[in-house]
Amino acid sequence: MDMEFLGSLVEEIDDILPQLKAPVLELQKQVNNPKYFARFGQIIDRLFGTCSMLDLNYFAEYFGMMKDICYKSRFLDEEAGQQAVLTLMKKCIYILGRLKESISNEEKTIALMEEVAKELKNASTVKENYLYAIRHGSVSIDPNEDIIIIFEKFKKMSDLVMESEHLMTPTPLFASSLLSFHKKLENPDYKITAILIDASLDKEIWLPLLEVVRTLRPGIPIGLVSGLPESFKTMDLKKIGVTNVFKYPASFETLQQYAVSILNGEISFDNHDSSHDTGPLTDKDDHPIELSNFIEMLTAKIHLCAKNPFDIYVKVGNKMLKFSLQNEKMTNEQIQNHKNKNIKKYYVKRDDYEQYLNVCKQEVARITSDKSIDFGSKISKTASLGAETYSYIKHCGIDKRTINEANGFVENVSNSLNGVLKDGKNLKNPEFIKSFMKDLAGQEHAVSVAMLTGLFLESLEAEDDIRDQIILSAFLHDIGLHDASEKIKSENEDEMNDEEKEIFYNHPLKGVELLKNLGLKNVLLDAIERHHMRLDGHGFPRWEKGSVNKVNHIAEVIGLSEELSHWITRASSDESINPLSMVKKEYFSEKIQKAFLKIFI
Ligand SMILES: [Fe+2]
Ligand SMILES: [Fe+2]
Repeated sequence: MDMEFLGSLVEEIDDILPQLKAPVLELQKQVNNPKYFARFGQIIDRLFGTCSMLDLNYFAEYFGMMKDICYKSRFLDEEAGQQAVLTLMKKCIYILGRLKESISNEEKTIALMEEVAKELKNASTVKENYLYAIRHGSVSIDPNEDIIIIFEKFKKMSDLVMESEHLMTPTPLFASSLLSFHKKLENPDYKITAILIDASLDKEIWLPLLEVVRTLRPGIPIGLVSGLPESFKTMDLKKIGVTNVFKYPASFETLQQYAVSILNGEISFDNHDSSHDTGPLTDKDDHPIELSNFIEMLTAKIHLCAKNPFDIYVKVGNKMLKFSLQNEKMTNEQIQNHKNKNIKKYYVKRDDYEQYLNVCKQEVARITSDKSIDFGSKISKTASLGAETYSYIKHCGIDKRTINEANGFVENVSNSLNGVLKDGKNLKNPEFIKSFMKDLAGQEHAVSVAMLTGLFLESLEAEDDIRDQIILSAFLHDIGLHDASEKIKSENEDEMNDEEKEIFYNHPLKGVELLKNLGLKNVLLDAIERHHMRLDGHGFPRWEKGSVNKVNHIAEVIGLSEELSHWITRASSDESINPLSMVKKEYFSEKIQKAFLKIFI
């Protein structure tokens, strides 16, 4: 080899030897100090690079292993392991000194290689004993790595791992009892990819084990490894949460491959042993799961329920796993575990959610038609149904099914407001108006605009057949903003930048685009397009030059309800605002102004 290159290696060794000694001295004073292990690993990494470049592969392998061990040792919590790694580090410094002296002498280099071979073996033993936890059941692993926990009885799988020459990713972690791993399962920092259970463990061990795993880590694939997979044929494995059965002797690579496919989100729940059919994951009706048939739900919402209103699913890769049934109550342990793992969303089936909305709709219909129930309760129940319905629309987008659900809410708005102004007792009654506005203050904007529109239509004495359709278009007036930021949704232009304004100005047209071809009358689509236009030319979309007044009364009712709704929301956090005086009534036609004055002033 070129002496010039070897000279540069010697220079490098001279440079780094004192740097390597510093962390070793610190660790001799106090071995439980992770940063010095990492520091050593960082420095030795340079030599690994240089030796690889100079084709000194044997030494490169040794330094590479030392680098790996030192990095992993940051997470060692056993003193015996830390001391063993420290011994390896000291030996490494010694070998470096020898390498510097012997590099230009072939005989000396060969003698040193024998020493390095011994050291590689020592290093590999330390790695197995303390870093992969194979022999002693240590759990000192890097929580930043993905791991597969393997519960086994006869150490068949750990033998397979030891035979494997490759670095393990995901890292295997062996256990023979649940006790020592309960804490790991509970700890959200451990990224557990999969759990493999040796079925030769007694059933009294692995059945409770399944239960605990399902509770603490719902959604993690569980594989059973068995010499006799046929014996599971009579058991409904899906019911107990098992996703695969592997047949002994399965190579660790097979098991690993399974875990890697989970990590990559490509998991197929196919059985690796073709003699046993666990089949692909299906829903309760045995239909393959289509993700578009699911909608997301905030976990907090479900946690508040006394019983799950739906079957609850979690997403694993691109599949859904059912982990809690309708009418079950999630345990505090599950809830806490999901909070720890920062799971913010559950999934429910769209069909189930529609059924639920249907039940809510019937319940609200019962309340709104009950004369003994006060107006305030009717309004707040109807508004809650509106919020549920709008959230469903936002999740599923606009199609015939969502319009159908929206109509269910609209019917209830009509019923709850029907005749409310007719007997005159609520007209100009400040208490009635105050409590109505208070009920709307915290509501979804779409719900509030639909209900204010319903009230205006009472004042305008609109015909029944068109009234519901107008309330529907009021409910959907801002559907063009469904995927916009909260800032744009607040519809306060003063707070938007140019880019946000452009999105905002386009939302009426976008809304019409989404709603066309779904059976809404043209006059309603026009109203949605023009709900921000005012008679004097204010607003948007802009008037075309020379055009006549194209703001229809429906657009005006929605526009006025919309302005009032925003002022009601702002007034709820600023007492100095009176929404009724803030609305620019003069921008609306006389007929609409009259309807407003009849109710509010
Ligand atoms: Fe709008
Ligand atoms: Fe709006």
